[in-house]
Amino acid sequence: MLLFFILVVAGSLVFLELFTFVYTTYLCDAPYLPLDKKNIDLALEVLQLSGNDVFVDFGSGDGRVLLSALREHGVKRAIGVEKDRYQALKSKIFLKLRYKGYGTYCVYREDIFRPSTKLLEDLSQITAVYMYLFPSMIDRIYIQLLEQKRPFRIVCCRYSLSGIPPTSVIKGEEFDSYYYEIG
Ligand SMILES: C[S@@+](CC[C@H](N)C(=O)[O-])C[C@H]1O[C@@H](n2cnc3c(N)ncnc32)[C@H](O)[C@@H]1O
Repeated sequence: MLLFFILVVAGSLVFLELFTFVYTTYLCDAPYLPLDKKNIDLALEVLQLSGNDVFVDFGSGDGRVLLSALREHGVKRAIGVEKDRYQALKSKIFLKLRYKGYGTYCVYREDIFRPSTKLLEDLSQITAVYMYLFPSMIDRIYIQLLEQKRPFRIVCCRYSLSGIPPTSVIKGEEFDSYYYEIG
């Protein structure tokens, strides 16, 4: 009986993960492809995060990057924006269970390109940005961020912003990431 229960739970989780991958691949602008811990560490290190930072992960998936920013880098606030309902829910549960520090966080289940007023208000405070999305998306987000007319740092994993020379390039085993200081 217990074995049957375990198999049903495990099977449902595998199904949800596969469903999310197919759903985000065809209905979101970028598929759910989480970055591994080693690459997350490299990307967050270059941002030199501190307790003064308001950090955002555009397309925050299961919240693993937000958790690292809060727990290992002690950011003041971490904001996640995730379109997929299942990943957004998973990240909220994951953060609730695994983060007990003083930094605050919020995951918005929203489309990055159709932000609510509340999300826009929250984003007006950001100082550090992380993106692991397709080139056309990161270019569009970058243009939106420029409208804030405030300095910020960005790290883009795998794909660079077009036409903007990076402040530094982070060499990875599989792919490079790109760091920019803006303003
Ligand atoms: C490559 S994954 C990155 C996940 C996580 N940030 C990481 O680095 O591990 C991209 C994520 O962006 C989300 N996404 C794609 N298009 C989006 C959109 N328009 N608005 C919000 N989230 C989006 C996907 O659902 C997926 O979870």
